[in-house]
Order: sequence, then C-alpha cells, then structure tokens
Amino acid sequence: RKAILPVAGLGTRFLPATKSIPKEMLPIIDKPLVQYAVEEAIDIGVTEIIFITSHAKKSIESHFLPNKDLEESLRNKSEAEYIDLINPKQFENIKFTFVNQEEQKGLGHAILLAEDYLNDEDDAVAILLPDDLYISSGKSCLQTLADIYLETSNSVIAINQVPNKKLSSYGVIDPIKISEEIYEINQIVEKPKLGDAPSNLAVSGRYILKTEIFNHLKNIGTGSGGEYQLTDAIKDLISSEKVLAATYKGKKFDCGSKEGYVKATLSLAMLDKDISKDIKQSLESLLSWNLYI
Ligand code: UTP
Repeated sequence: RKAILPVAGLGTRFLPATKSIPKEMLPIIDKPLVQYAVEEAIDIGVTEIIFITSHAKKSIESHFLPNKDLEESLRNKSEAEYIDLINPKQFENIKFTFVNQEEQKGLGHAILLAEDYLNDEDDAVAILLPDDLYISSGKSCLQTLADIYLETSNSVIAINQVPNKKLSSYGVIDPIKISEEIYEINQIVEKPKLGDAPSNLAVSGRYILKTEIFNHLKNIGTGSGGEYQLTDAIKDLISSEKVLAATYKGKKFDCGSKEGYVKATLSLAMLDKDISKDIKQSLESLLSWNLYI
C-alpha cells in the first residue's frame, strides 16, 4: 500500500542541469522522470507515495499537488483537455507525503526517515529509485516483485546483469538459483572492488522489503563512500530471514547518467506513435552527418 521514493540525492552526475532543477524533474519526452516511478507504484495498488526529498527540490512537491491557477487558466483558454495531464485520474485517491532529508547521508539514511509514516498494518513497503526507468511490454518491474512477495512473503529485490567492469558502481549479490528468474541472496556487497564481485548480478532500483528492514537500518554504521547504505541493512536482514532477488523482462535505463538518460529518451520516443516515425527518419539522416567524432 505504501511506496518510498528517495529523491534527495545531489544528482552530481548530471550537473550543471541539476544545479537548480532536481534530476527527477528532468523530462523524458513530456513527463518528469519521477512520474514514471510514481505511476509504476500506483499500478500495483500503492495508495501512499512517501517522497524522501530535500528543501532544494520543492518542484517535485509542486508537481504532485494540485495547481488551481494553471487549471483556471487552461479552462479560460478553452484548453481543458490539458487538465487531465496535470491532474491524472490515476492520482485522484493517492496520498503524497514529503519528508525532508536535511543532509544527504546516503540511501539507507533516506529510507529510515520513512519509518514514522508506516504503521503496524504495513508488513512490507515498496522502494523505487526513480533514476532507474524500466520499460516493458508486459508486467512492470515492481509488479514482478509484488507477485513474488505475495506468493512467498519474502522480501524481494530487482537485479540485472551488469558487465564486470561496471560492477563496482552497484550492490552485487552472491546468488543461489531457485528458478530461471528468481534467486535467494546468499550474500550482498555494496560497490565491490574490481574483481571482488561475487557475481555479475547487480541490485537495481526496485525493492519490496518487509518492514523488519527498519530495525536493521537503525543498526548499520556508515559504509561504502562514508554513507549509510541500504545494501548493508539488507545484508543484516539476510542473516535473520530469506531475501529473494528477481530478474526482470524488459529494459532498464539508468537515467542518473547521461548515456542512460539519452537512451531512455530515444527508446520512449520510438514507442510514442505521434513522433516515432519522424524521430526514426531524423536519426537516419543525423547518422550520416559528418560532424561527429
Ligand atoms: P544516487 O547516488 O544514484 O543519486 O542515489 P545521487 O546521489 O542523486 O546521484 P549522483 O551520484 O550524485 O549523480 C540513489 C537514489 O538515492 C537517493 C537519490 O535521490 C537516488 O534516488 N538518495 C541518495 C537520497 O534520497 N538521499 C541520499 O542521501 C542519497
């Protein structure tokens, strides 16, 4: 019923664009990045979105709250068809909660701040890192995890294969294979040194974690990069209960990096029936331009 979206990070890989605009508000075609993750959560039945945000990111809050002045202007200009775009029906009964992370002390610290907004009825919580955009023709990534959680009652996190030389940027699991797509996590390590990774299966930005995770988040110290790491709390959770990992059918784009952001934009452009033909033609002609290195 509840999803946590940590959006307080500094977005340094995307400076200078993120100097005054949160990276989560950068558009992929005509929607801010963060909205894709919010829609993915609402689609599995989540009714409360808890953003862990920072005072410098007020535009995220504005984006998910009603804007009566803009609605009025659109109505006066007979452009009422746009009102559905700024007030999607899907958001009608959704509660948006905004929690301030004063200091960026890491993902583990950010997630712990959501604890006060959960109650005894919440057995598990979804966590989505909006930088990671998933596209598929079938089930969403979070739906895949939700189905596994409902069947097994085990925490489950999304993983994907990453080339060896890039593994040191991710949390990496030591897997025990259960089926073609599902693994039990034997061990997990945040940002392993080159050559030390226990597999090439890296944690990607979707989790369904049992609320026991908060007890572990309270007890971890700082880890990789001097930050409180969610991976370290998951490592502790594994010592007391089974945690699963699942691969996902579809494509994942790391929109916190320049190349991932551009690839996601191109990919969604190709799926947009209004513009795909034009973009394909432009790409063909652009590729024959001799200005490139
Ligand atoms: P990242 O490390 O990918 O995001 O954190 P970042 O820090 O914004 O990006 P760079 O590396 O500086 O370019 C993963 C997720 O955790 C959130 C980020 O907003 C992102 O969604 N996060 C990270 C927080 O909310 N608080 C933190 O203290 C750290």
